[in-house]
Amino acid sequence: MTTASKPLVAPRHVSAIAPYQAGKPIEELAREFGLDPAGIVKLASNENPLGMPESARKAMLAAAESLARYPDPNGFDLKAALSQRYGVPASWITLGNGSNDILEIAALALLEPGASAVYAQHSFAVYRLATQARGARHIVVPARDYGHDLDAMFEAIADDTRLVFIANPNNPTGTFVPGDRVAAFLERVHETHGDRVTVVLDEAYNEYLDPELRFDSTDLVRRYANLIVSRTFSKAYGLAGLRVGFAVAQPALTDLLNRVRQPFNVNTLAQAAAIAALADADYLQRAYESNKAGKAQLCAAFERLGLRYVPSYGNFVLVRVGDAPRINLELLKRGVIVRPVAGDGLPEWLRVTIGLPQENARFIEALEAVLEE
Ligand SMILES: Cc1ncc(COP(=O)(O)O)c(C=O)c1O
Repeated sequence: MTTASKPLVAPRHVSAIAPYQAGKPIEELAREFGLDPAGIVKLASNENPLGMPESARKAMLAAAESLARYPDPNGFDLKAALSQRYGVPASWITLGNGSNDILEIAALALLEPGASAVYAQHSFAVYRLATQARGARHIVVPARDYGHDLDAMFEAIADDTRLVFIANPNNPTGTFVPGDRVAAFLERVHETHGDRVTVVLDEAYNEYLDPELRFDSTDLVRRYANLIVSRTFSKAYGLAGLRVGFAVAQPALTDLLNRVRQPFNVNTLAQAAAIAALADADYLQRAYESNKAGKAQLCAAFERLGLRYVPSYGNFVLVRVGDAPRINLELLKRGVIVRPVAGDGLPEWLRVTIGLPQENARFIEALEAVLEE
């Protein structure tokens, strides 16, 4: 046998990974269908339609001066700002290259072959990917009304379970579990399993919640040493392209996360922009209000068109269109990119990110035309 004929060898759990399906980039659609990129509306990746905060752009440009140097591996300034905002010691914070990195780091720190992770059906795809990449077992708990069934998730925890992932609000369904139910779940898990089972409470869409629904998850972190709260700057803070997120957890867990993360996992521009965005209360408020108005615009259209949708607490809405592959293709031909979610077990649905009023209107107009065909 020649050297060249020796096959590539990879662990079976790695070759079995079904890669993440990202939203189609605007340039790719323009190439495929010969469309003008300027006329394309992308409502596929839960990005912030306001564009990045001006404050963050300025901070990033200033930080560009020092790009010949490595970033601060400990993110001192960003952690200090987060510490002040959330009232937790900086030593409780782990920065991530997006909160996706936090989820991967948690899986890397806690999972291995012979262990398992619990997560809900129709929940964020990265829970499956991160679990699979560690060669751990998946315990997928059926959703209830498209959301997390926390009682069933508690019952599903097995002897080998080390991690439970909860997305709150959930992606792609947009459902939300109120704070008292999350707290009761954490109490039950801790009482029964102590610190043996870590819960990751993924709050990527937290800032879109109406104020009366928000609850202080850092208070839960103070109470439970087996809790990791994960947040991101990609959504309401408008910095998806920079990749920055963070985790809050007590020191023992934080120490574990820090052992497996890359030393320079958050780049210089991202750290500077995140500090500026965190201080930009005006931008955050505009993002919240624009999202609320856009959600009402989309939901009113779905009702008018007689389409079922899941009431959403995030910056997107899951809508049932029936023949989703056909409708998605016809929307693409009209220059509108949304997200098919068949891979999440929802073959008749599409997930639509809430855009600016004119973007939402373009989508509604295209959808209406496609449905009439
Ligand atoms: C529930 C949830 N968690 C985490 C993420 C990861 O986002 P990022 O890595 O940009 O912070 C997403 C992104 O879509 C998400 O929907």
